Amino acid sequence: MDVTLRIRRYNPEADEAPHWEEYTVSAEPTDRVLDLLHQVKWYQDGTLTFRRSCAHGVCGSDAMLINGRNRLACEYLVRDAGTTITVEAIRGMAVVKDLLVDMEPFWDSLKQTMPFLVNDEIPADGRERRQSQADRERYEDTSRCILCAACTSACPIFWSDQSYVGPAAIVNAHRFIVDSRDTAKQERLEIMADPDGVWRCRTTFNCVEACPRDIKITKAILEVTQEIGKAGIR
Ligand code: SF4
Ligand code: F3S
Ligand code: FES
Repeated sequence: MDVTLRIRRYNPEADEAPHWEEYTVSAEPTDRVLDLLHQVKWYQDGTLTFRRSCAHGVCGSDAMLINGRNRLACEYLVRDAGTTITVEAIRGMAVVKDLLVDMEPFWDSLKQTMPFLVNDEIPADGRERRQSQADRERYEDTSRCILCAACTSACPIFWSDQSYVGPAAIVNAHRFIVDSRDTAKQERLEIMADPDGVWRCRTTFNCVEACPRDIKITKAILEVTQEIGKAGIR
């Protein structure tokens, strides 16, 4: 079948404003939108710019606004997308070129949350830090984040003010806050209790709808607020 790809193009160094360009490509229903973007880039217009790496929903590098919703281009099939597909860069981040956005502010927010285990104590057996299956289960969901930014770039609070740390950073803070082996919980909670932290969320659920991993983001946000309350942080 023939599929029309409508792509929002923008080169800030050459264009006064973004504009739409249309490309017709031949596709199978089981092709992914990423396959169509490759067809355009490799055979029609080599200037089209986008980011991708694994092509299998693992690396998180190809989140785009496809048919009006944040998705991974490598996971969204033509049979679900239809014969006219619109593709735009994710929102709330500066466009570097076409579908490629500046992720630096996103990484800066993530860095604030200290996304690594903190524990300088020697394990009891000198080798490994054990935890129960129930304790491991507490961060199972949030540990599946692939840092694609689909959630943060779908959040209206983040659109209006990029100083909000955003749902992706909260998800990754949650992953360590509830980890029984971590010793920096208090510091993490104080970071999340900052005026630009978790309290900025207005529970609009856009992030949940956008997440390609179906992570229960609002549940994680709620649990972080509960932990802040339990720690007596104001
Ligand atoms: Fe992507 Fe989901 Fe992680 Fe957000 S929580 S960065 S949408 S995987
Ligand atoms: Fe934003 Fe998600 Fe909260 S979209 S407002 S972080 S529920
Ligand atoms: Fe890696 Fe899509 S290219 S998640």
